[in-house]
Amino acid sequence: MSASAEERRERLVEVYKEASGCLRCPLSQTRTKVVFGNGNADAELMFVGEAPGADEDRQGLPFVGRAGRLLDEMLAGIGLSREEVFVANVLKCRPPGNRDPQPNEIETCRPYLHEQVRLIEPRVVCTLGNFATKLLTGNQTGITRVRGTPQVHTLGERTVFVLPLFHPAAALRTPAVAETLRKDFESLPALLAQPLPEQEGPEPQPEPPEGPEPQPEPPEAPRTGADQLGFFG
Ligand code: URA
Repeated sequence: MSASAEERRERLVEVYKEASGCLRCPLSQTRTKVVFGNGNADAELMFVGEAPGADEDRQGLPFVGRAGRLLDEMLAGIGLSREEVFVANVLKCRPPGNRDPQPNEIETCRPYLHEQVRLIEPRVVCTLGNFATKLLTGNQTGITRVRGTPQVHTLGERTVFVLPLFHPAAALRTPAVAETLRKDFESLPALLAQPLPEQEGPEPQPEPPEGPEPQPEPPEAPRTGADQLGFFG
């Protein structure tokens, strides 16, 4: 019998607590806070970025900078709020100086993301930017070519629609990218209304890509940081 939403939420809180003290890779030596992700523990829609930046590392929350505010704006445009979706990253800890995630860090962190997807049971996972897209789809084609077209992938144990999107930080730099991102967001309600893809066995794990395109973000005034546990509504 499948687990209830409450049982899945409780297990997610356990995984959060475990991740909060994670010492599995060297990023544990340089991070300030683990950024597990937050939002609705039973969300139909998940977003996966690359890794926490400086603001996220300080606050322990994903996408709290300008890129996060743009993400909120895009969500509002389709009638959704951050509390209704779940937002996470491929890496739960900030690489020092925002350097590229290393293959061993990606591998070590992968079980956390797979467990999040297994427990939250989303229908659609949006990958934000080149790095998350290449890693979750196992395909090295650049984001400019693949954005906006849903793919079907098995992430850990769950088969979902993966919708590659431009990273909001790229949208902040280039108005045309922001326009495309907005358009791609508008396709989400119809995709969420589709039946869940047929559940398949696990996909072979791709080799981690050589590295993401740099996505620097200007420093931010911090938003009020809600506790991540409190957000697992
Ligand atoms: N960029 C990301 O990819 N993730 C964050 O959490 C913040 C910025």
